Amino acid sequence: MIRTAISGTGLYTPPASISNAELVHAYNEYVRRYNAAHHEAIISGAMHPLLKSSDEFIFKASGIRNRYVIAREGMLDPEVMCPRLPERGNDEMSISAEISIVAARQALEAAHRAPGDIDGVIVAASILQRPYPQIAIEIQAALGVSGFGFDMLAGCSSATFGIQTAADMIAQGHARAILCINPEICTSHLNLRDRETHFIFGDAATACVIERAQHADGDNAWEIVGTRLKSIYSNNIRNNFGPMNRFTPETMGASDKLITQKGRKVFKEVVPMVAEFMLEHLRELDIPPASLKRLWLHQANINMNDLIARKVLGRSPDHGEAPNVLQEYGNTSSAGSIIAFHRFGDDLAAADLGHLCSFGAGYTAGSIVLKKLG
Ligand SMILES: CC(C)(COP(=O)(O)OP(=O)(O)OC[C@H]1O[C@@H](n2cnc3c(N)ncnc32)[C@H](O)[C@@H]1OP(=O)(O)O)[C@@H](O)C(=O)NCCC(=O)NCCS
Repeated sequence: MIRTAISGTGLYTPPASISNAELVHAYNEYVRRYNAAHHEAIISGAMHPLLKSSDEFIFKASGIRNRYVIAREGMLDPEVMCPRLPERGNDEMSISAEISIVAARQALEAAHRAPGDIDGVIVAASILQRPYPQIAIEIQAALGVSGFGFDMLAGCSSATFGIQTAADMIAQGHARAILCINPEICTSHLNLRDRETHFIFGDAATACVIERAQHADGDNAWEIVGTRLKSIYSNNIRNNFGPMNRFTPETMGASDKLITQKGRKVFKEVVPMVAEFMLEHLRELDIPPASLKRLWLHQANINMNDLIARKVLGRSPDHGEAPNVLQEYGNTSSAGSIIAFHRFGDDLAAADLGHLCSFGAGYTAGSIVLKKLG
């Protein structure tokens, strides 16, 4: 059995950001205008008024204070409420490839690898900019990677699903090394007019180099001790956007073409599912939770993450034991757990164990147990 490793990681953080205060100010102005425009219908009881959002609620319910965004423009305009970017020509690089390349180059540098050492590129994200040509192949060409590239979708677990796919391919001898990249432009499917979800998501891109453990000589390289994937069908996080929307043009702009979620149900169903999934994986590997030095959890929601960490460890995590980047980044879908891993892993010692776990829409969950190489 060929052992595999994550030998380097990279992170692209957009330069622009939006604080809760800014987001709430724009949303509340949208609400004021909406309620004023529908004043008569609201007074007559034919329509319900929209309710205001609040910074205090957002921070308490989610742990988010800020999010980075690919395009601030439009997001804070009550008449637009959507990111705005000029369309690029077919001969220009896509925004997804552009941000991916920044993360990918960092990951290559951290892994002490050049594009010529890589045999494949997997782009795994919760939403993709276009169906074809695949973003992974565009990145492959831009970096000068020969071999193959393909895109895959697995909701907030896309990064871990991508890492397992890459690790399996390397273990089977299909590639020497693979770049797994997660361009998560979550604001593209965020409904800024929806009070329940307008605050949740931000944008980022992450990248990991996966290769044989015996060849991994990056500064912060981790052997993949074991991987597990899980999915259980649920409608509680849903997005009906797709090319077949044009079959029914009259509903093309409806709000179900952006993310919708039943947040309470997600919370109640996903927390026990993920905690049990992580514990089961640790049992299979014969690793007691007490021997884990770090948990890098999907950055969904501070209350969900705290509960999952408590259930897995059997106690409250110590400071820094289950780091969160939610406050600064918001939920960046599959990039979230990789951002936590990228930022909070290099202080650990050789042979230390950590548990990376993603979870989200589908439902999907991905568990990767890692051992620091040194
Ligand atoms: C979405 C989520 C943060 C909402 O938190 P919650 O505590 O469940 O909030 P609820 O929707 O039940 O609403 C609680 C109250 O806050 C109010 N509220 C909802 N959104 C609000 C907002 N933006 N500002 C102010 N108040 C708000 C509701 O109206 C409700 O008021 P009421 O008690 O007077 O009826 C939470 O359910 C969650 O994190 N779920 C997990 C979802 C997730 O992370 N998904 C990502 C993929 S894993």
